[in-house]
Amino acid sequence: MPFIASCMRNHSWLPERTRAVLLRKMFSILLLGGICAVGFGGALAQTTSPSPRGGIADKTLDARVEAILQRMTLQEKVGQLVQYSAGQPTGPGTGRTDYEDMIARGQIGSLFNVIDPHEINKYQKIAMEKSRLHIPILFGLDVIHGFKTEFPIPLGLASTWDPSIVEKASHVAAMEAAADGIRWTFSPMVDIARDARWGRMAEGAGEDPFLGSAMAAAYVRGYQGSRLDAADSIAACAKHYVGYGAAEAGRDYNSTEISEHTLRQFYLPPFRAAVDAGTASLMSAFNSLNGVPSTANPFTLKQVLRKEWGFRGLVVSDWNAVGELIPHGIANDGATAARKAFVAGVDMDMVSSLYHDNLQQILRSGQATQAELDEAVRHVLRVKVALGLFEHPYVDEAAAPKALYHPESIALAQTAAERSFVLLKNASGAGGKALLPLACGNENIAVIGPLGDNYSGAPQADAGGGARATSVAAALAQRLGESHVSRFKGVGILDGTDEEIAAAVVGAQKADVVILALGEAPEMSGEAASRAHLGLPGKQQALLEAIVGTGKPVILILFSGRPLTLPWAFEHVPAVIAAWLPGIAAGPAIERTLFGDVNPSGKLVVSWPRSVGQEPLYYNHLNTGRPAGDMDLTRPPSDVASRYLSRYIDEQNTPQFPFGYGGSYTSFSYGGTTISRQRLSAAALNKGLSAGAGQPAAMTAETEVTNTGSRPGEEVVQLYIQLLGTSVAEPVRMLKGFRTISIAPGEAKKVKFELRPQDFAIWNDHNQFAAEAAKINVWISPDSAHGSAAQAEIGP
Ligand code: NOJ
Repeated sequence: MPFIASCMRNHSWLPERTRAVLLRKMFSILLLGGICAVGFGGALAQTTSPSPRGGIADKTLDARVEAILQRMTLQEKVGQLVQYSAGQPTGPGTGRTDYEDMIARGQIGSLFNVIDPHEINKYQKIAMEKSRLHIPILFGLDVIHGFKTEFPIPLGLASTWDPSIVEKASHVAAMEAAADGIRWTFSPMVDIARDARWGRMAEGAGEDPFLGSAMAAAYVRGYQGSRLDAADSIAACAKHYVGYGAAEAGRDYNSTEISEHTLRQFYLPPFRAAVDAGTASLMSAFNSLNGVPSTANPFTLKQVLRKEWGFRGLVVSDWNAVGELIPHGIANDGATAARKAFVAGVDMDMVSSLYHDNLQQILRSGQATQAELDEAVRHVLRVKVALGLFEHPYVDEAAAPKALYHPESIALAQTAAERSFVLLKNASGAGGKALLPLACGNENIAVIGPLGDNYSGAPQADAGGGARATSVAAALAQRLGESHVSRFKGVGILDGTDEEIAAAVVGAQKADVVILALGEAPEMSGEAASRAHLGLPGKQQALLEAIVGTGKPVILILFSGRPLTLPWAFEHVPAVIAAWLPGIAAGPAIERTLFGDVNPSGKLVVSWPRSVGQEPLYYNHLNTGRPAGDMDLTRPPSDVASRYLSRYIDEQNTPQFPFGYGGSYTSFSYGGTTISRQRLSAAALNKGLSAGAGQPAAMTAETEVTNTGSRPGEEVVQLYIQLLGTSVAEPVRMLKGFRTISIAPGEAKKVKFELRPQDFAIWNDHNQFAAEAAKINVWISPDSAHGSAAQAEIGP
């Protein structure tokens, strides 16, 4: 356990008891990581977990919550439901500034965007000493991919297909944030994202509900640890509930139309997984869902979340989402907006102030009941009690910086980055040898492009972390010596001149090999960063073509929060790596990958489009009545048979790279898929379903994967199924399992997955989750577009 040992050495400043707790915790994380590495096979979203002690579902906390509730006045109860941003705003307008007086009067339950521990203590002191009931303030922040130690963006973390690394990364984030006094993060974002135009694709785990569920649970476990009241745990917040990722045309905040069937099949499962993993909170989304804004939607907030899933935690609105019910058009004034959000099930109002302004009157006039108010307040108090805030309201200001940037945290960020890279292309040149990894002899490297020496993808709310990041050029210079690395910006991300391009061309001509670092600035993805064009921004395409025109070997490193449509590059550049936004260790992680110290193993969690017109693009689509199938669609249709198909006349249907795709410096071959049973029974599957979690496998599927190359490598093996003949059309493939294996050159490994009753169940034409008679295809494959299927059948 070298990781644990080195962690403990470096935590020698911690008190003995804390070190012991940490040690136990890390063992359990590694153990969980181990279990995760064995593979996921089973619909995570359909299981229910026991309520662990010290978590949000722990009923032993209820007596304390009730005791506090009994003593509260109407004003104090409403106060617990009010949240403001008291720091750098992360949305338009904050409404008020008189927080100190309000806290003293018990009118604020939570503040966020306060990052300075001294400020946190200042506000907390008022709550603890001046407010009548001494209820601590809950401090929140968008700790999205690290607090100060910056990890890859969530899309990159998901591309590792490794929930254990996500869990460890979010645990580091929790440790740093908690030491700073922040006990609540607005993360993970578990929205399914099928459209690369939507900038927030960067913040999530991509397009698949199975993978998304595994990642959602991993984040929650990492943030919350085994007990919420541990010194290094913070409350998670699964967001944005729900359907936000389906924004029409990929335009942020836009409306969504999602049938109940699709909602249950695709968009809800990651939230369910977060709830089952014990998330302390959820955030209601901005979007309207079938005409009803998610922040005033009793179906999703009450029926599904509370009644069906039994969620006992806190629901906070998104930024001013209560106020935005007015422009949405379902409220003509603030009081109506507050009432609609509140009775629909939003407990806490983020920044709009409308609960503060209106809830007391709403209660007095009987438009909402005392029971509803008490229940909302319980949800808030439960989180505060579970976090141990009443016992430990203050942060140790002197100790806070000591939790930051631990060498092992940065090492973990580097490992995460290395595992997040997706090798999109690595063509063989003359002599049949692939360009990557770089061989000795490539002594003179030109690093060209706006992102080659200028990585600044700091996590939100932290300028410090990004400033510490090492660029690709700096890391290469450290490895090879400054004299071997030349740097040319070429162009800016959005601007540039022909002269700058010409200078970069001269630089390329003098080099043995060119590393071209292109893509998006960090602020070009995330919130309010939708793009209608998905090519390289600014003049970067011109730079790319000019550099490739030199005839020098070019390796393109793409930095982005989404896939970019670069058909020219994929045709003309021999080697391309999707690096996403890799975080604090960007430079060394890329340098080690370029030189083959690590072998890329990341795989795409979103379908990579050829052109923006294909969006939304996702592998788990329906077949349609006129599927184009394997037909060659590269040329315009010339006959009736190829014309009247679900296709474009000017673009292929297939993605540039499919979901699940990712290359390696070695190669793998897959044997056929074999399954343990050709015939299942719907009745038996349904019996298994109603018996709940822990059912034996209904079927096993197996294949053999061989490393046919000359290097050791890791391969993410994926299991997909398709059901045919069901009451509701099912996708052409659905991921039901994945597992990472390490294989030595020449070695063959058997990989076996277990499929459980829930893997064969569907949301049927009555929106019930049940198995039906069907034909089944089962693939074990390297991605969502390849592999040979085994066939089976579900009888009645
Ligand atoms: C709005 C974003 O949609 C949400 O994700 C974030 O947590 C809040 N602002 C708070 O910053």
